[in-house]
Amino acid sequence: MARLDVRCKVDLPVNVIIEGSQNKAVAETKFTSLSLGGGFIECASPHVENKIIGLKYDLPAYGEFEVFGEVLRSEYGGIAARFYNLNRDAKLKLWDYIRENIQDDISCPYCGKKNIQKLRRCDSCGWSLNFFSQDYIVEHEKESFIHRLAIKSKLFTIEDIYKILNFVDVEVLKIGKSLEINEEFVGSSQGMLNVFSMIRKIAPTDIPVLITGDSGTGKELTAMAIHERSLRKNKPFVPINCAAIPENLIEAELFGHEKGSFTGAHKQKIGKFEYADGGTIFLDEIGELSPNLQSKILRFLEDKVVEKIGSNDGKKVDVRLIAATNKDLKSAMAKGMFRKDLFYRLDIFNINLPPVRERGDDKLILARYFLNKFSKEMNLKKTLSPEAIDAINCYDWHGNVREIINKIRRAVVMSREVSITPGNLDLEVAALKMEEVTSLREVRYSIEKQKLIEAMKHCNNNISKVARILGISRPSVYSLRRKYNI
Ligand SMILES: Nc1ncnc2c1ncn2[C@@H]1O[C@H](COP(=O)(O)OP(=O)(O)OP(=O)(O)O)[C@@H](O)[C@H]1O
Ligand SMILES: [Mg+2]
Repeated sequence: MARLDVRCKVDLPVNVIIEGSQNKAVAETKFTSLSLGGGFIECASPHVENKIIGLKYDLPAYGEFEVFGEVLRSEYGGIAARFYNLNRDAKLKLWDYIRENIQDDISCPYCGKKNIQKLRRCDSCGWSLNFFSQDYIVEHEKESFIHRLAIKSKLFTIEDIYKILNFVDVEVLKIGKSLEINEEFVGSSQGMLNVFSMIRKIAPTDIPVLITGDSGTGKELTAMAIHERSLRKNKPFVPINCAAIPENLIEAELFGHEKGSFTGAHKQKIGKFEYADGGTIFLDEIGELSPNLQSKILRFLEDKVVEKIGSNDGKKVDVRLIAATNKDLKSAMAKGMFRKDLFYRLDIFNINLPPVRERGDDKLILARYFLNKFSKEMNLKKTLSPEAIDAINCYDWHGNVREIINKIRRAVVMSREVSITPGNLDLEVAALKMEEVTSLREVRYSIEKQKLIEAMKHCNNNISKVARILGISRPSVYSLRRKYNI
């Protein structure tokens, strides 16, 4: 069975975070090798095997990563750690980085055969070695999947085969089902229902989209949801974080360059716009682009031609542009820092993601969703204690969904009991202030009840109207009526 473990040698700073019951120690060190599964970390003192550690590192051009790792081996000079629960997005970014750092003298990562650099497929074990293809990861995952399925299929009965084929048709290919917004995009607040409706409407078109919202509210997820529901869904979705790439590299990254076009351009490079041909390019943090790059993007939007640095020829590409920012582009425009003409080309269709604090019950729905997800992944059974539910409701989630994910993931790993406490969530402050919180809650309850009574009266008990004027969903109105016995 093949294991995806293409490795590269690196010299990448990493902070290793070790959480004790009382304190937290952070060691600054470096990865000396890295793969999708984990890496080797230089460190002097030994670590206990199977220990869970936090790993925080910056991948040049891809941004900050914070993941949990497990110590697999502790040996002279360092530890081998395995990444825990790397999500798909992080995995693809990490793969891009690994691919850029693969050494020329690489052996086959699956069987160890030497000198495979000229082979597209290992002539010893048969696995694809086409690492530089844009679709390598996906193709390799498919190949591994077919391989595993072939081995397991020997045990299938004919009933199993029908069940599997039915599952593939209905759940995977959605044959006979309308395409719903991804079940992984959670939300039932009015604000999020509006967002889902906008995604459905705009996805099948080629119109550029500008996604705005605070950090961690789901801008990238929204961009992916649009791509997945568009006719481009079988072509690449190429995300680029404009803030993570140094100013002098970003043009080459986006448009590519010819060999020798500047110092360090040892070979020709295809830019992300060209990679994305037929698909979607997602320019994250577009507010960080320099004026020079802003005008190049504008030109691209006008003629859809990419010109590599150092080339006189342009190439026409068919790419849909989705941009995102957590900055106020209108005020950047007023200060002359963002081009008006580019803003108006991007702002044709704007999706604004509400901050989590304005999403009502979604806070708890999200927390429960991630609790289930991580518990399943780690094969654990966990629930939220009533105090933890209170703390989640009262906490001001500045880091939005990403903060909820991090706190829940931490709690699932750290809690010893089935029931998760505010302490496991690192929300003790909310728990300590419970008295204060309780009185605030009482105030909120009485205002909420009063408003509901007024709205019911005003709308002659018409639930849809009540939901509309209160800005909440109909199910929320029903649940409030039950809560206050109205
Ligand atoms: N409504 C949601 N349901 C489930 N998961 C979500 C939701 N919104 C965001 N997420 C998850 O939260 C994390 C952060 O989302 P995302 O990266 O899309 O946010 P962002 O707005 O692009 O953040 P930043 O401004 O920091 O780049 C991701 O792991 C994403 O999958
Ligand atoms: Mg983002």
